[in-house]
Amino acid sequence: MAIFSCLALIEHETALLYEAMVKNAGDRNIELLLNVILQETKGHEEIFKHLARLSDQTYPPAVLDCETAFGKVFTDSVELTRNLKESAQNGMPPLEAMKRLVDYEGSVGEEYVALVGSRLSAFDEEDATIKKILLYIARDEERHKEILKQAIALGPADKKL
Ligand SMILES: [Fe+2]
Repeated sequence: MAIFSCLALIEHETALLYEAMVKNAGDRNIELLLNVILQETKGHEEIFKHLARLSDQTYPPAVLDCETAFGKVFTDSVELTRNLKESAQNGMPPLEAMKRLVDYEGSVGEEYVALVGSRLSAFDEEDATIKKILLYIARDEERHKEILKQAIALGPADKKL
């Protein structure tokens, strides 16, 4: 199963979304916070690609394989991320995009964390190093949600940044 390759693809799509958000941030502090998430997301992508190579998983993966491995949450996640990226590119106000992202991180994001978490048990005895890396990434995802909330707090709800 192409587990790591699939996770790399999710990180890749998420990085593209944050790239669009950073470009549209319109406020230097918000831009800075979003860029922190962007760079860490790119890091996750590389880590998952590395794990995919170690496990002889092809990148990019076949989406159907990913759905088999993770269920519908995988395709939902990719679709939501792509849609939001397009909206951000087409001029959605940054504040609105960020709020949707918090919802995203809160729903799909949490499922994603759970998804990574569910894989942890598979590595219990098999590979302690991989388990540690997955745990590290799952914690980053939680932190990203907090950073987003911080960015939203910088802009009043009715203000177009
Ligand atoms: Fe990530």
